[in-house]
Amino acid sequence: EDFSLSGYEHYMRKEYLEQPASAEAVLRGRLDDRFGTPRLNGLNLDPRAKREIRRVKVIGCGSAFYVGQMGAQMIEELARIPADAEPASEFRYRNAVIEPTTLYVAVSQSGETADTAIAVDEIKRKGGRVVGVVNVVGSSIARACDGGIYLHAGPEVSVASTKALTNMALAFAMLAIDLGRVRDLSVSNGRRLIAGLQRIPGQIAQVLENEDQIADVAKRLSGAPSIFFIGRVRGFPVAREGAQKFKEISYRHAEAYQSSELKHGPLALISPELPTVAVVPHDELTGRNLGALQEIGARGGPLVAVTHGDVDFGELIVERIDVPRNEPELDPILLTVPMQLLAYHAALHLGHDIDKPRNLAKSVTVE
Ligand code: AGP
Repeated sequence: EDFSLSGYEHYMRKEYLEQPASAEAVLRGRLDDRFGTPRLNGLNLDPRAKREIRRVKVIGCGSAFYVGQMGAQMIEELARIPADAEPASEFRYRNAVIEPTTLYVAVSQSGETADTAIAVDEIKRKGGRVVGVVNVVGSSIARACDGGIYLHAGPEVSVASTKALTNMALAFAMLAIDLGRVRDLSVSNGRRLIAGLQRIPGQIAQVLENEDQIADVAKRLSGAPSIFFIGRVRGFPVAREGAQKFKEISYRHAEAYQSSELKHGPLALISPELPTVAVVPHDELTGRNLGALQEIGARGGPLVAVTHGDVDFGELIVERIDVPRNEPELDPILLTVPMQLLAYHAALHLGHDIDKPRNLAKSVTVE
């Protein structure tokens, strides 16, 4: 395993540039085109056990929680099982009801995050079934779980997680399709999504080719004391992760908000001094997202859109970062990649210690 910088200035950049290869690694040998379903033998769940799941609860911390939220949405959308995500740091303290028909999913790059590990022990102690979505093989969380999906992202050194998060999102997409295909997700939809997953490594490479333009946008954003990151439904976990990454290494205040909630309060903050980074996928909500952007533009708020080439912003003045289109259910995975580059280049411009941001550790293993 390669822990060296291999000529790069920072681990974070090395790691986000490794993503086409690491995404290939998590998918390798796990996609069955014929039946339009993934093969996730490590879950240790037979089809009957999968069909008996009535609810899915995802737990993780920080960015792992945000990707968990993305994953819960995929599971609910594709498998039609009620699903949600919660920070493990909250879950462990609230004496949660543990149900035998719920599948608990613990997400962690390191597999050593104390809050997540303790939440897993509590679920197991009450007789719940937990699977892990974990990068480090043989880690505490991986060992405590009843089964799981290893991420195969390779070692991640930078505190700001990149390739492991992308692989978590890919693992959740596979889990969602798998649970869907033992229920009502049709073989043709399964095949469509499997083909979409197969395109993702190449499409990540396309996003990364756009690094210079994203770096220009990042430099301009780095001058703002505060930034909004907005998105709705599939776009909201992307916005949350975008704000998290930006805060971690640029030390700028960044707040994620649902685009749908702006008019209920935060619109009062919009001014020429407060830029907004908006996640605008091409899906059934594009029109509504454009409506929210109009509201911001009309109040002089500078706009950056992380979007797809065929979304038309009309007269709106928007700095756009275009990401290739995949299948709408999978687009959040690709839309998250530019967020990493925005944070990295803002922090680089500001001269911060990118791989070891102040006050943070790579994994929080103590209480
Ligand atoms: C990600 O950029 C963060 N450094 C942080 O939120 C991290 O995702 C979190 O601490 C969870 O770590 P884990 O995945 O190793 O459990």
